[in-house]
Amino acid sequence: MAAKSKWFVLCQFLFCVFLCCESLYQGFGHYKRHQIRQNDNTSYDYKTAYFEQKVDHYGFANDDTYKQRYLIADQFWDKNGGPIFFYTGNEGDITWFCNNTGFMWELAPKLKALLVFAEHRYYGTSLPYGPDAVKDPKKLQYLTSEQALADFAILIQELKANEPGAQSSKVIAFGGSYGGMLAAWLRIKYPNVVDGSLAASAPIWSFIGQIPCEAQLQVVTNSFKRESQTCIKNIRKSWGIINTMGATDSGRARLSTSFDLCALLNTSADTDALKSWLVDIMFNLAMVDYPYPASFLEPLPGWPIKAVCKPLSTEVMDGVPLIQALSSAVKVYYNYTGQAKCLNVNQNAVGSLGDQLWGYQACTEMVMPSCSNGVTDMFEPTTYNFSLVSDACFKQFKIRPRKSWVITEYLGKNLKTASNIIFSNGLLDPWSSGGVLKSMSSSLPVIIIPNGAHHVDLRSSNPGDTPDITKARQTEEYIIQRWVKGDNS
Ligand SMILES: *[C@@H]1O[C@H](CO)[C@@H](O)[C@H](O)[C@H]1NC(C)=O
Ligand SMILES: *[C@@H]1O[C@H](CO)[C@@H](O)[C@H](O)[C@H]1NC(C)=O
Ligand SMILES: *[C@@H]1O[C@H](CO)[C@@H](O)[C@H](O)[C@H]1NC(C)=O
Ligand SMILES: *[C@@H]1O[C@H](CO)[C@@H](O)[C@H](O)[C@H]1NC(C)=O
Ligand SMILES: *[C@@H]1O[C@H](CO)[C@@H](O)[C@H](O)[C@H]1NC(C)=O
Repeated sequence: MAAKSKWFVLCQFLFCVFLCCESLYQGFGHYKRHQIRQNDNTSYDYKTAYFEQKVDHYGFANDDTYKQRYLIADQFWDKNGGPIFFYTGNEGDITWFCNNTGFMWELAPKLKALLVFAEHRYYGTSLPYGPDAVKDPKKLQYLTSEQALADFAILIQELKANEPGAQSSKVIAFGGSYGGMLAAWLRIKYPNVVDGSLAASAPIWSFIGQIPCEAQLQVVTNSFKRESQTCIKNIRKSWGIINTMGATDSGRARLSTSFDLCALLNTSADTDALKSWLVDIMFNLAMVDYPYPASFLEPLPGWPIKAVCKPLSTEVMDGVPLIQALSSAVKVYYNYTGQAKCLNVNQNAVGSLGDQLWGYQACTEMVMPSCSNGVTDMFEPTTYNFSLVSDACFKQFKIRPRKSWVITEYLGKNLKTASNIIFSNGLLDPWSSGGVLKSMSSSLPVIIIPNGAHHVDLRSSNPGDTPDITKARQTEEYIIQRWVKGDNS
């Protein structure tokens, strides 16, 4: 996230959302069928439905409504008491999360569960005030985690009231990342509605003052270090070389050709953009360092950091040869498919609507700082300046962040009143730095996945999974099964 929306760059995949508008369905029972074909050729069948929600759950003056999309799959469900598995949608198109949450699809037949994937308001096709809301702070003000949680709680209650057989079903919430925070918070705020939650890679303690701002990039460095010490030495050294080259026209021209950039670097601001693009790539690589080929953010080989570090691991280099090696490394990320004609430094920049909307959330409630020291991490030293962030937010959205509101609203580090939440974290993932890594009570189990990247446990099982990944899913299954049986001890 840092200065830009470094969080999940996944929103870049969501361009099509507003072009392919499905006709809107309302209420229960009017469904459109879809099929997802997974890598293993298992086909996942679901239906799409819409539910009319109040735009404002907390005030009584605004009676506007919008249609919230959700996906529902009942083919595994035992209508005679089977549980409901409810995915708390995060900042993007819900079909994308549905496609990337194979664990729920694998668990549903075992526990005879009804699957529901609910879209987060203001994303995908669940749009209060339409796509133009982003231009108007008054229309965007209902984009908060509190409103989204209220949507989820109400949708669950409506499903239980209206789906024959669901009245006494246990409800288990699942979520990853921001969605994992929502799954945890849903159980914290609505224990009357949700019986237990799996919060995967949920950085609920990434807010200001909860962890040092260096923590995220420290994890990124560790994830590279485990592949090669030389790799991180070269990366640490490259910033100075980029700065020197970036100071002259000829140096910038050389940088541009070395990285095969689509647009020539003309100014020192362009050089800064190149550096933050490189930091974003390294951050993202640590998030998606899965043991098998995957295309979560970009199509990548298994253990992508190993592949990225390869050209940077033979010896400590200098000058243009180092920049060339760094360029080869970066192309593992952006040219694994061999399709890239040139590399675009603005590829991740805030542009698509989904990114802008996450940017808005980062400018209101989700204030998660990032910085680096250049000593224990492999990055250039950078500070975190809240006023700078606040000014940028005001410029873009006419609002300013409230830096500790989330800590007040969702218990902060004092989780003693919370129960039945599994916190799972992969230690390769930079977001693990803000995760719950030590169990605080027997009803808040913690699962650590040393070889795990960002919510790897929510993905489909894969022959390439390391034993710790497989074991995490088994433990989760065991605990969820106990919750479903009503055994909370
Ligand atoms: C999936 O189906 C395709 C086409 O039928 C086949 O070529 C491929 O080997 C199958 N993959 C698996 C993992 O079974
Ligand atoms: C989900 O998977 C289906 C089938 O593979 C694909 O057609 C669809 O585009 C995917 N949706 C997203 C948002 O990735
Ligand atoms: C640099 O200037 C050239 C020529 O005006 C332009 O095409 C290119 O887009 C500029 N580069 C950047 C990064 O803005
Ligand atoms: C991407 O890979 C292909 C195939 O190896 C290569 O022809 C192309 O030049 C590469 N693109 C860039 C920008 O390096
Ligand atoms: C933080 O940014 C503000 C501009 O909003 C600036 O005035 C201030 O000097 C900066 N503080 C530090 C410590 O750099």
